[in-house]
Amino acid sequence: MGPSSSEPSRFAGAASVSDVPLEDRYFLLIEAVEDYAIFMLDTSGCVTSWNPGAQRIKGYTPDEIIGQHFSAFYTPEDIAAGKPTRELEIAAAKGRVEDEGWRVRRDGSRFWANVVISAVCDASGALLGFAKVTRDMTERMRLAELERAVEVTTQVQITRENEQKRIARELHDDLGQQLTALKMSVALLESNLADQTVAASLISETHELQTQIDSMVASLRRIAADLRPPLLDDLGLTSALDWLAEDFVKRYGVDVTVHVESDEPAFNEFASTTLFRIVQEALTNVARHASASRVRIEMACAEDTLSLEIEDNGMGVALDRPPEKTSFGLLGIRERVRQLQGSVSFFSSPGSGFRISIRVPLAALE
Ligand SMILES: Nc1ncnc2c1ncn2[C@@H]1O[C@H](COP(=O)(O)OP(=O)(O)O)[C@@H](O)[C@H]1O
Ligand SMILES: [Mg+2]
Repeated sequence: MGPSSSEPSRFAGAASVSDVPLEDRYFLLIEAVEDYAIFMLDTSGCVTSWNPGAQRIKGYTPDEIIGQHFSAFYTPEDIAAGKPTRELEIAAAKGRVEDEGWRVRRDGSRFWANVVISAVCDASGALLGFAKVTRDMTERMRLAELERAVEVTTQVQITRENEQKRIARELHDDLGQQLTALKMSVALLESNLADQTVAASLISETHELQTQIDSMVASLRRIAADLRPPLLDDLGLTSALDWLAEDFVKRYGVDVTVHVESDEPAFNEFASTTLFRIVQEALTNVARHASASRVRIEMACAEDTLSLEIEDNGMGVALDRPPEKTSFGLLGIRERVRQLQGSVSFFSSPGSGFRISIRVPLAALE
């Protein structure tokens, strides 16, 4: 894609770019760039120019895209959320806006983009349109992802280790104590058996043994369900979320409501597990950090996007401070959402609760 192919004769007399008039040099510069999509929008957001970099990254020829609205480059979920319009409004008000996120190529495939939109104004400051520069960051993101994956894997191993410790402790403290009690009861039964005169009271003692055994079975079920909720495999995500909420209410006395709009969506197992683990992590954070009295979990499918919100009314946190080195919960949520090709935002400030807002294309869940 040579820069001069569109206008072969225009710079025919020039021996060097310095022979070319300054305005034309800018044209050549932009035409020569292939690593960045550089193009202009009019004030309403329609494309008015298109460089070879834009064609390479986004897949449209100038004829296909000039005159079209730039929302064509956004995902349906971003369009539904009004993102393209909002970005132009911010660029118009503040002079520029920068964003990183999923964008869509002509063939529908997605790439991770870094986008800068700058307002273009005349000498009097009146808005003429926008200059937009987009860079495909997919490769760079993959690299960063790989680095993070190593970090996360290590953390996963540590977490698993801790988890096994926790199970061992529960088995020891909870089941272990019950077994000890059971053993003592059996010992007592044995010595009573030796003395035939008290045989009538044996009936109530065997009943007592049965109650203790029942309690052990309940403990076992609870420990196993913590490791992997059986409902998720048997009855699906909605029931598993209900179970999670009920369990949370029982353990922490926090009021949790689960609202799922639409019927049980037919998600694949990976997607169901991922969404379940996200909610589980969010609730763990509520229990550890929020001191909340209420949690709202809402899931809805609209058009081709799933939205999932988890909000508590607790003490919140200032999100602008850097995360602790040992904080992997929110990072883990981010990773899981990214695995589903979605986007996640955290909203919180001290005193105003914590909200996690997730959008995922349904196509990634089926
Ligand atoms: N629901 C919440 N309410 C208040 N603060 C929260 C909430 N969730 C997370 N946080 C804050 O964000 C930090 C990071 O959370 P996370 O990544 O899960 O790490 P961790 O839970 O291990 O501290 C927490 O340490 C806490 O300060
Ligand atoms: Mg956490």
